[in-house]
Amino acid sequence: MDAKKITAATVRADFNDAVAVAHYARAAHFLGLWESERILIDRFFRNKNAPLIEAGCGAGRATLGLWQLGYANLTAFDFAEELVAQARFLAEGRGATAIRFKVADATALTTCHVIRDTAFSGALFLFNGLMQIPGREQRRAALRELHRVCAPGAPLLFTTHDRDASPTERVLWRLETERWIHAQQDPRLVEFGDRYFEDEAGRTFMHLPDRREILEDLAGTGWTHAFDAMRTEIARESRAVKDFSDECRFWVARKA
Ligand SMILES: C[S@@+](CC[C@H](N)C(=O)[O-])C[C@H]1O[C@@H](n2cnc3c(N)ncnc32)[C@H](O)[C@@H]1O
Repeated sequence: MDAKKITAATVRADFNDAVAVAHYARAAHFLGLWESERILIDRFFRNKNAPLIEAGCGAGRATLGLWQLGYANLTAFDFAEELVAQARFLAEGRGATAIRFKVADATALTTCHVIRDTAFSGALFLFNGLMQIPGREQRRAALRELHRVCAPGAPLLFTTHDRDASPTERVLWRLETERWIHAQQDPRLVEFGDRYFEDEAGRTFMHLPDRREILEDLAGTGWTHAFDAMRTEIARESRAVKDFSDECRFWVARKA
């Protein structure tokens, strides 16, 4: 096994891979917003003309869904340029050319002047994108960057997994704790809580936090926790959404 640690470059290459691009393009084309996302967007993003930013937009699944709901002032970015190309292509086909799709890294938003020079009224980082940044300090950097480009009061909606979500998860993570204690974990992982696996979406790096970790990271980056709940507590999702995505925890924080 290649024991090189997973980096942002690994994650970016995995998302630029043809298997991942086809997977996320299909989701953008056919799946659209989940019911839980729709409910929370409606609750926390009331002004459809306010400038919103979506981080880790992939092929545009959520951005195009927002556009369809009437959100008119959208900027979306991803660091995987192949996915951004798909998003632009799909947007063109739907007459949504007013959406600004950018290639940018969530941990360094100063490189894109459109993002740097706008005070956004709300931000989204959906389908666990934030948790696909290796290294807690880098995830905090992304939270700080989103905080910096948002106006006071702006909501940030994002999702994570939750290591404590079920008894099965708790048992599996106890076993993983043993592996870390005895240095028997996958050597490519950066921190406890990380996973690196391969499925129909291609290769995926994912950090799975517990609830306390996220509360600490929000507080440490200037965000005020406003809401969190597991997806099943928010909505009943279709079979197609459940096939595409596992249970997750939704978070909303506000820039104080
Ligand atoms: C699970 S995919 C979700 C894509 C899309 N939001 C969706 O729901 O279909 C996570 C996305 O986050 C992006 N991402 C991960 N780290 C990033 C970073 N540092 N900067 C920008 N995008 C990032 C990936 O390239 C990927 O497109």
